[in-house]
Amino acid sequence: MAITLAFDVYGTLINTHGLLTQLEELVDDKAQSFSNTWREKQLEYSFRRGLMKRYLPFSECTRSALEYACKLHRVDMSTEQKSQLLSLYAELPAFQDTLYGLAALSHKQFRPYAFSNGTEAAVRKLLQASGTEQYLLDIVSVDDLKSFKPDPAVYDYFLQRSASDKEQSWLISSNPFDVIGALNFGMKAAWVKRSEAALFDDWEAKPTLVVDSLEHIGEKILQESVV
Ligand code: 2OP
Repeated sequence: MAITLAFDVYGTLINTHGLLTQLEELVDDKAQSFSNTWREKQLEYSFRRGLMKRYLPFSECTRSALEYACKLHRVDMSTEQKSQLLSLYAELPAFQDTLYGLAALSHKQFRPYAFSNGTEAAVRKLLQASGTEQYLLDIVSVDDLKSFKPDPAVYDYFLQRSASDKEQSWLISSNPFDVIGALNFGMKAAWVKRSEAALFDDWEAKPTLVVDSLEHIGEKILQESVV
């Protein structure tokens, strides 16, 4: 039976820090810390909106997090500059290993999906721009449920949409909160730790597998599955 793979999108297939060059032009040497604040607040807003049941599309979390980052770092960005950044964010690049990892997956052994906080339209645009759409069977978005990861309901929804069962399904994510969310729900989960500095939360759940890139992800999951 083929193994279902739920690839997280923002931060896993797609590099959420892919606008550093553009940010350097706007905020000079604050580019990395500005980008970190932007991403951290975007996720925090999704968690808070999920808990408060005040859902708005993920792009709205991205937009309001950009406003927050400008205030925190005291950056006076024009409305036009902000909307330019948000347009570029809609076409962020993939990581170098993404295409290689997806292209190598055998469709006899795996059923690969994109599974994201982003709306289906937003994710499709990213996947098309990065040339990765052709390697994925479909996009499953939390937007259908009006909730966000790591609400257990969204992992359940993923299984329903992909017609998969927990035992044969893996989440693949660089985001520890997402890995823990999937494990909590009962799926297997691979943590993509692309940098030595990346940390995993000291919680009761541990990733089923840790990889340093998406290269050979299929082989590594198969090895883990027969152990
Ligand atoms: C995604 O769902 C968690 O932002 C990440 O694509």
